Amino acid sequence: MRQSHHRSVVLGTGSELPARVVTNAALEELVDTSDEWITTRTGIKERRVLEEGKGNADMAHRAAVRALHDAGVDPKDLDAIIMGTVTADYPFPSSACVLEDMLGARKAFSFDVNAACSGFLNALAVADSMIRTGMIRHALVVGSDALSRLLNWKDRTTCILFGDGAGAAVLGSVNDGHRGVLSAKLRTDGSYVKTLYVPAGGSLKPASAETVKKNEHTITMNGKEVFKVAVRSMEEISREALDEADIDVEQVSLVIPHQANLRIITALAERLKIPMSKVMVNLDRYGNTSAASVPIALDEARREGRIRHGDIVLLNAFGAGFAWGAAVVKF
Ligand code: UT7
Repeated sequence: MRQSHHRSVVLGTGSELPARVVTNAALEELVDTSDEWITTRTGIKERRVLEEGKGNADMAHRAAVRALHDAGVDPKDLDAIIMGTVTADYPFPSSACVLEDMLGARKAFSFDVNAACSGFLNALAVADSMIRTGMIRHALVVGSDALSRLLNWKDRTTCILFGDGAGAAVLGSVNDGHRGVLSAKLRTDGSYVKTLYVPAGGSLKPASAETVKKNEHTITMNGKEVFKVAVRSMEEISREALDEADIDVEQVSLVIPHQANLRIITALAERLKIPMSKVMVNLDRYGNTSAASVPIALDEARREGRIRHGDIVLLNAFGAGFAWGAAVVKF
């Protein structure tokens, strides 16, 4: 249990989903798959795809404006903008810099965090630490990804899983030891880098006519391996985060897990002995939105009235790296 009385509280949340809906039926036209297979193996019914000509920061901007409005915080009062993403607008600089300009958040320093599906948890942990040390007072924490840009629409093992979206939370410093981010735990295992990755486009194998021809700019994944390690790791790190916060599993009002596969979520809930009625699920509508999945679900849960004052919420995520994390937040 931490000793400091300065904590970061969630002052507001917001999210953005692109308007274009791609149903399982639409994917049946592209690859050899079926609505039945996708629904029973993943729980996904449809996902959103960002329109051409727009970038990640456009989605993040809409989510951020909603979160700031919800929090009653002016962009000019932000000290930091930290964005979890693997689909920044440009190879550099960061999408957070693009977002900073869109918001006119002139006082803030801004950077991206690359932790794939765990990006929001990592960004949250970084912002929380900076707030607790007194380095900053207000942070905008974002998870935003457009994985549709990295999909091979001929590969049925990956193109059916992912969707685009953005979620944001405004964190503020309070002198109250009893609420806010009670704990945050992060982990990685780099021996799994090639289990889920984009082979080309980085410094090792820059873009060339050949890499494009070989489809090496799209997601390559061993789904079975990801599945196995995801359930085990998210259970483990959730328990560690609960232990550090001194919270029993029975005290948790709501779990907001990364939305990758309904079977991963139900297996995790079973292992944690948490009933599904206390678990947020929206992947049927959005698929796996990578770093955006947790903050979108958090925002929806708040808007649906599923999080009340005093509630204890467990967030967890797992993805490429492998990188994973969990946080316990008291509202
Ligand atoms: O955020 C982290 C990102 N990634 C994940 O979380 C992914 C985690 N993994 C998963 O969600 C699952 O492993 C998948 C949904 C990707 C796959 O489900 P699975 O139950 O592990 O299926 P499988 O890979 O064992 O494939 C079973 C069969 C195979 O056919 P055979 O070999 O049994 O004849 C596949 O070729 O299903 C076939 N298949 C498909 N059939 C119809 C694979 N994809 C499809 C598809 N439509 N889209």
